[in-house]
Amino acid sequence: MRQVEIGFLGFGNIGEGVWRLLEEMRGETARREGISFEVRRVLVRDVHRQRGVEVPQGVLTDRPEDVLDDPDVQIVMEFMGGEQPAADYIERALLAGKSVVTANKMALSTHWARLNAAAQRGGAGLYFEASVCGAIPVIRAMTDSLQANRVERLMGIINGTTNYILTRMTREGSRFEDVLQDAQRLGLAEPDPTADVEGYDAAYKLSILASLAFYTHVPVESVYREGITRVSPIDIACGQEMGLTLKLLAVAKRNGDAVEARVHPTFVPSTHPLANVSDAFNAVFLRGHACGELMFYGRGAGDMPTASALVSDLIKAAGAQRHALPAFFDAADGVHIEEDWSSVYFIRTRATDKPGVLAHVAGCMAGHGVGIASMVQKGAPDADGRVQIVFVTHRAHEQAVMSALEEVNRSGRTRVESVIRVEGVE
Ligand code: HSE
Repeated sequence: MRQVEIGFLGFGNIGEGVWRLLEEMRGETARREGISFEVRRVLVRDVHRQRGVEVPQGVLTDRPEDVLDDPDVQIVMEFMGGEQPAADYIERALLAGKSVVTANKMALSTHWARLNAAAQRGGAGLYFEASVCGAIPVIRAMTDSLQANRVERLMGIINGTTNYILTRMTREGSRFEDVLQDAQRLGLAEPDPTADVEGYDAAYKLSILASLAFYTHVPVESVYREGITRVSPIDIACGQEMGLTLKLLAVAKRNGDAVEARVHPTFVPSTHPLANVSDAFNAVFLRGHACGELMFYGRGAGDMPTASALVSDLIKAAGAQRHALPAFFDAADGVHIEEDWSSVYFIRTRATDKPGVLAHVAGCMAGHGVGIASMVQKGAPDADGRVQIVFVTHRAHEQAVMSALEEVNRSGRTRVESVIRVEGVE
């Protein structure tokens, strides 16, 4: 039996989940892998705080060096979250030759180059399955099971909080603010929900997924990002009538040397597999040139689902003869980030109900080469005599659509109230 000594950085819900899972799987891990893990030191802010698990005397410490500089700690597991000091601690551990297992998408995606370099210098491994989509083994699939493919595109529901909110808004016709408050009350959304509802969390995860999928670095700054705070129940209902379901999608495509990566509210056909991913579940749908379409589905958050990915990475790190690092840093290519992507667009406007209004809207779109696939005028005029006009374009370029809509707005008779991209339609 091989004994592997590990150190924890952080000990919140996820850390306690890992502790519990290690205990629960102790027998199986010994039998299946021939490894016995011992948690040697655990870095916490307050060593006196009551914990949800029983930790032996002398294991908790508030000094990072007790974990990072202990020569007997072979593998470091990081669950502090946030960019710093986590990134610096991870780098220090790697340089000291300790492999690191982390769930920290922010530290990883922001500091990937230097962490990768530190791992190479230290001869250590950097494992991050838990950083994207919790329990779903999507990172391992990209790095270990899809190498024979050129991945052409991926689309994912990679934030559970926003998927929960949008699912309830869709089912109940409720407003964003009301569902958010309810989710916060139930502990399903953070007291400060910005990272989730503004799409930052999904953007970090997409930067990691797209980089691995396309063998090129897709920095988080190059991910276009729009959250769900302005989504209205009216849009969701109009979409439903047209056979569309609204999701916060992370979309990445590679077309030759052009890569696009974006996170925004997106309609998908209600028959698309992603449309049926509800509540706080996550899913990643991708297409490779050889494998065709694949979908990964499961729990993207929570202490035990995240611990499942972390402990699996720990076992992999402990058993590795040689640590593999992401290949894209060495892949010489001329890839560039495409900002003028193409999509289908759902557009809702409010317009004076007078002859010529539809023609004006259609004319502005046509002037920028944007074709309209369908257009409907909805409901009775409001108190100001305005009606809603909803239309869906043919596939068009982002910049052309935005220029056309600026022109629509300039007339003063028609106001664009929402623009939602539609994916999953060829
Ligand atoms: N807050 C994230 C989510 C989980 O709602 O999916 C951690 O990335």
